[in-house]
Order: sequence, then structure tokens, then C-alpha cells
Amino acid sequence: MKTAIEAMHSRRSIRAYTPQPIDRATIEEIVDCARLAPTAMNDQPWEFVVITEKSSLASIPKLLGHAEFIANAAFCVLVLSRASSCAVEDCCAATENLLLAAAAHGLGACWVAGAPQPYAPAVAKAFGAPDTLTLISIVSVGHPAESPSIEKRPLADLLHWEYF
Ligand SMILES: Cc1cc2nc3c(=O)[nH]c(=O)nc-3n(C[C@H](O)[C@H](O)[C@H](O)COP(=O)(O)O)c2cc1C
Repeated sequence: MKTAIEAMHSRRSIRAYTPQPIDRATIEEIVDCARLAPTAMNDQPWEFVVITEKSSLASIPKLLGHAEFIANAAFCVLVLSRASSCAVEDCCAATENLLLAAAAHGLGACWVAGAPQPYAPAVAKAFGAPDTLTLISIVSVGHPAESPSIEKRPLADLLHWEYF
């Protein structure tokens, strides 16, 4: 298991997965990390729907009109929120925890946009969420079949000590 710092350094968006499944205990641990994220006023406005069925995974890109890689994921998580003062911020913190927990396990994951994308209500409805909940993000997870590198802005370009 990687440390948090190692996971942050090694994490990349992974959109290609091997067919190897992921056991239920690992999935639960990853979602458990999401629910531990900070929230404004400790509101914890979220619900998480884990999808492992192949046909269900394959149905998601059809609703989105993109993100075909979700069909090949071992699972994905719908991050949903009830209305709350900082629903987006809270659920984004949870989404990042999902990504980092997956990376700590040596798994690959990708954040896929939810609301305000026009498909968000249809995805939430397709998986039985009440219409009081908004889909904030989708995270696909699987054993990585790619290791992309991506340019990140160097620390020296964006770190300002004491004054901008
Ligand atoms: C709010 C948000 C929405 C994103 N939506 C998508 C998406 O719909 N499809 C996708 O393939 N990647 C999506 N990504 C992943 C980004 O493309 C990726 O994080 C970015 O290119 C940087 O690459 P890295 O994750 O490897 O650092 C999203 C990321 C964020 C933070």
C-alpha cells in the first residue's frame, strides 16, 4: 500500500483497464476513504453508488456520450449529493479521496464530470437515485493498462511565499 504522499505523486487519470476484477473488500475500503473527506459544517451530504455489473457499466458512456472507458472499468462510483451549502466542494473532496485511495492500492481511476453536465440527471435516475440527489462526479476504477505521463505546472511557477 502506498503512503498518501506516494499516491499523490503517482496518481494519474487512468482510462484503460485490464479485465482483472477488484474484490469487494478493496472497493469498500476505497469508498470508506471517500466518506472520511472533510465537509462544510460536517454536513456529509453524499451518497455513493458502486456499479460493478458489466451491462450497467457499459450503459453509462451511452448516457454520457463520452467516457467509453467506463465500460471496461472493474467498477465505478457515482458520487451523489443532496442539496447543501457546499455540495460541490464536499463531493469533490470525496472524489479526490476515491482517486487517492485507488492509487494507494495500485489501481487506476478517472474522475468523470457530473453536474452541471446535461446527462447528470439521467445517470442518477438510471441507477435509482431519488431526484433530491445530484450527481456530482463519476469515478471509474480498474487495474491500470496504461501509465500516462502528463505535464504538471512546476512548483516554482505557482508557489508564492508570503506575498504574490
Ligand atoms: C472536475 C473534473 C472533471 C473531469 N471530467 C473528466 C471527464 O469527463 N472525462 C475524462 O476523461 N476525464 C475527466 N477528468 C480528468 C481530467 O481530464 C484529468 O484529471 C486531467 O487531464 C489531469 O490529468 P491527471 O488526472 O492525470 O493529473 C476530470 C477531472 C476533473 C477534476
